[in-house]
Amino acid sequence: MLRVEGLTVHHGPVAAVVGLDLEVRPGEAVALLGANGAGKTSTLAAISRLVAATSGTVRLDGRPLGRRGADQVARLGLLHVPEGRRVFSTLTVHENLLVAGSARGRRGGGRRAGRALLDEVYDLFPMLAALRDRPGWALSGGEAQMVAIGRALMGMPRVLLLDEPSLGLAPTVVDAVYAALARIRERVPLLLVEQDSARAFELCDRAYVLRSGRLALAGTAAGLRGTPKLVAAYLT
Ligand SMILES: Nc1ncnc2c1ncn2[C@@H]1O[C@H](COP(=O)(O)OP(=O)(O)OP(=O)(O)O)[C@@H](O)[C@H]1O
Ligand SMILES: [Mg+2]
Repeated sequence: MLRVEGLTVHHGPVAAVVGLDLEVRPGEAVALLGANGAGKTSTLAAISRLVAATSGTVRLDGRPLGRRGADQVARLGLLHVPEGRRVFSTLTVHENLLVAGSARGRRGGGRRAGRALLDEVYDLFPMLAALRDRPGWALSGGEAQMVAIGRALMGMPRVLLLDEPSLGLAPTVVDAVYAALARIRERVPLLLVEQDSARAFELCDRAYVLRSGRLALAGTAAGLRGTPKLVAAYLT
């Protein structure tokens, strides 16, 4: 589904990720874990082409992404919900969802497909249906996170990348977001960056753990959860 080989990411002189291999197979939810600054965000940003200074190969369904930019990669179905839950502040919830449909590009079906996707998003996040005319700037953090995930779903993801969807949210809101992710993962493979490894292990089948930009550990959620090896990988 998604295969990354030898990924290296530089921010100027800083090597944020070095020689990373990872894979997300059909039907899988995979966690990408690690301490602050380990290179998790840089990895997702490189996969979705939000940062350009990378080497290595990213394949979607066996096809290398080559030099495609972020928009083109999104049109292929590789959709990224970045950290900071960005939504358009002057657009309403509904408008935010509608404009995100452009990522479907030629895969997208017509208006009917768009309506069906909207219904799915509102079904997944019933709270948003009541807020559909509210502008982005007036949303709480949790509401904005739901819109950000909903926007990615409007693009009909083949693989969904999520960067710390629970960051800064109240526990009950995190529960709502993760309940939605549990439903989403039934049909879309996920690559999830999460600080809270316990949450990640509840949702995911496998995990990769980064330390200072390199792969420190990989394995099944059941095999890694709570192990001393996992704790050690967080200590730099
Ligand atoms: N735009 C940037 N310019 C320079 N250095 C950067 C930039 N973004 C990240 N870095 C550096 O790259 C390394 C990896 O950062 P990255 O944000 O990928 O880590 P992370 O695992 O997502 O961390 P966090 O848990 O804090 O979100 C860090 O050393 C960071 O300081
Ligand atoms: Mg990060």
